[in-house]
Amino acid sequence: MTAPSTPSPSRTGMRFPDQPIYSGWDTPSRVEADLFEILADGEIPRDLCGRYYQIAPDPAFPNRTGDDIPFNGDGMLRMFTFADGHVDYRSRYVRTEKLKLERAARRSLFGAYRNPYTDHVTVAGRSRGAANTSVAFHAGKLLVLKEDARPTRIDTDSLETDGVWDFDGGVSSPTFTAHPRVDPVTGEMFAFGFEAKGLASRDIAYYVLDAHGKVVHEVWLEAPYTSMIHDFVVTQDYVIFPVMPTTTDLDRLKAGGPHWKWDPSKETCLGVMPRYGTADQIRWYRGPARWAYHFFNAYNEGTTTHIDGCVAEAQAAPFMYPDTLGGQYDATKGVNRITRWTVDYAADDGKGFEEQVLQPEFTEFPLIDDRVETGRHSIGFAGACVIGDEHKGGNGIGRLNSILRYEFDKQQATGQYVLPEHFTFQEPVFVPRSDDASEGDGYLLALANNWTTMLNDLFILDTADLAAGPVATLHLPLRLRSGIHGAWVPEHLVQVG
Ligand SMILES: [Fe+2]
Repeated sequence: MTAPSTPSPSRTGMRFPDQPIYSGWDTPSRVEADLFEILADGEIPRDLCGRYYQIAPDPAFPNRTGDDIPFNGDGMLRMFTFADGHVDYRSRYVRTEKLKLERAARRSLFGAYRNPYTDHVTVAGRSRGAANTSVAFHAGKLLVLKEDARPTRIDTDSLETDGVWDFDGGVSSPTFTAHPRVDPVTGEMFAFGFEAKGLASRDIAYYVLDAHGKVVHEVWLEAPYTSMIHDFVVTQDYVIFPVMPTTTDLDRLKAGGPHWKWDPSKETCLGVMPRYGTADQIRWYRGPARWAYHFFNAYNEGTTTHIDGCVAEAQAAPFMYPDTLGGQYDATKGVNRITRWTVDYAADDGKGFEEQVLQPEFTEFPLIDDRVETGRHSIGFAGACVIGDEHKGGNGIGRLNSILRYEFDKQQATGQYVLPEHFTFQEPVFVPRSDDASEGDGYLLALANNWTTMLNDLFILDTADLAAGPVATLHLPLRLRSGIHGAWVPEHLVQVG
């Protein structure tokens, strides 16, 4: 039997099809760049000393299916290096097995998002990981994450790809979350993989890694049903797996269909387990169908845990419709609002959880001061939508035009910056002003999309007075395709790593 040959391009040159996924700020950028001394207005705070890494799905080739979704492009890692009031920029594609195979063929070989049944026969069994969702720095290692694969380790300076990282063989799950959580006091990292025993499996693999990146605790458990568990939360005493009805179906995948669809017939199930617990200790608490991509944090007071996130009544991504019952996307239900869920581990398995909507605006990319993660948080930040011009006319992750500061104890927004007309934000990151600064005191860094010039700025906001606008604005001569998540790494940690 002869092995299938590498497919050849069918035509010279290349173009992306005329699809929304390849237009506007989703037009692939595909630029690997080095830029020394970014032009700036204002005063770049000299106490910002470190690297801001951000990852974006940036398709190297048009997907072989002719269409795509925002989560499926090849990972392009961006690095802003801050030193003494100056900033340099570098970007590199993550050299995944997928990218290397497709570059060799000069075309897309891997098909639809998380559906290997749409792949070219020559890449059967090869890694589909695109390393495009988030960035984590732990135990001296810079990792790029996408939840359908293991992490990819990257050099902190050159951004060259070292390869897939399985924590010295400690992680056997083929999947690993894009949103691990870190206890800032112990340095432990908490992580998990879902669909951990293969496509559409209900299995979750949960890991605790010590401050040196060694797996010290591992639990395998089953969710009530298979769903996208994009984020999770950890408190001082518990870990919570939010199972919400964005579901998959193996028969649908085999027929070439989408991995995810919204299923309004199912309940939300919050799996609560002691953070060093065992599978038989997990208890599931139930409520109406809800959707949240991201959570600020959670903390527990005794057995009572408060979980704060940006929660919608239904899946907020239009491409996950029609839903499993044939229903169409409803923008009025896909509004992520700052919401608190409260659950009591002392209550019997199968009981409900409480829900309290705290803020009416569409919000996304919630974040806290990492120095209080897993403990009690008082302050959160999030991108928000304020209705305005054509780029602000409605809700959605592509229409974030402000950043708000939220005080959970007061249960109100206590600061907000609204962008000028014709700008939208990508995800902000928070940087403390100093090691001993009070919670939430510092800077927010956020890429701003300028829809007039179609170039990006990086805004630096002071959290002491968000409404005053950026203390400095960095002007890039580049359009950076919509990124997903980033991380700030202080320079002294980069150098140790
Ligand atoms: Fe995320």
